Amino acid sequence: MNNKFEVMISQEELEVRIKEMAAELDKQYEGKTVHLIGILKGSVMFLSELAKNMKSEVTMDFISVSSYGDGTSSSGIVRLNKDLDESIEGRDVVIVEDIVDSGRTLSYVRRLFEDRKPKSLKIITLLDKPDRRVVECKVEMSGFVIPDKYIVGFGLDYAQKYRNLPYIAVIE
Ligand code: IMP
Ligand code: MG
Repeated sequence: MNNKFEVMISQEELEVRIKEMAAELDKQYEGKTVHLIGILKGSVMFLSELAKNMKSEVTMDFISVSSYGDGTSSSGIVRLNKDLDESIEGRDVVIVEDIVDSGRTLSYVRRLFEDRKPKSLKIITLLDKPDRRVVECKVEMSGFVIPDKYIVGFGLDYAQKYRNLPYIAVIE
């Protein structure tokens, strides 16, 4: 590793906030099965931590989309690389994302899923960078609002690296 990191959100802060988000979802979906849909690969850590802290019945599925190349700027095109394994018709769906940046990914995914007639559909994201928004994108719950800095860790990568850091860091 040649890059230097400055911690922006510590492991402890992540744990506390994700527990709160899990409790909030439990309250909102009391007595229901929550179908969590993770957007690969960035949301994997967040989805796991969230699911472990939820008391509701949870099912999971994943999609893979890409809008970034190997660098730090968006190409502007969203491509579906891997679709869901199961139908979401009639289910209570929560899309779980790592970060909302331009908003392109989530506005694409919301449109894609709304057409499939879920019973309900919400989007939750661990991080939100509102200064970078290009496309309007509704998010029902976000963990942390952060400034316009390129960050890595807890699922987020730089050129596919650093996803395993247990905290969120600014890369220098
Ligand atoms: P969008 O621009 O909102 O469509 O975000 C696309 C994707 O870019 C996100 O799901 C992340 O995986 C990735 N991304 C955006 N900002 C960052 C960042 O600061 N670090 C690492 N990945 C990022
Ligand atoms: Mg992502």
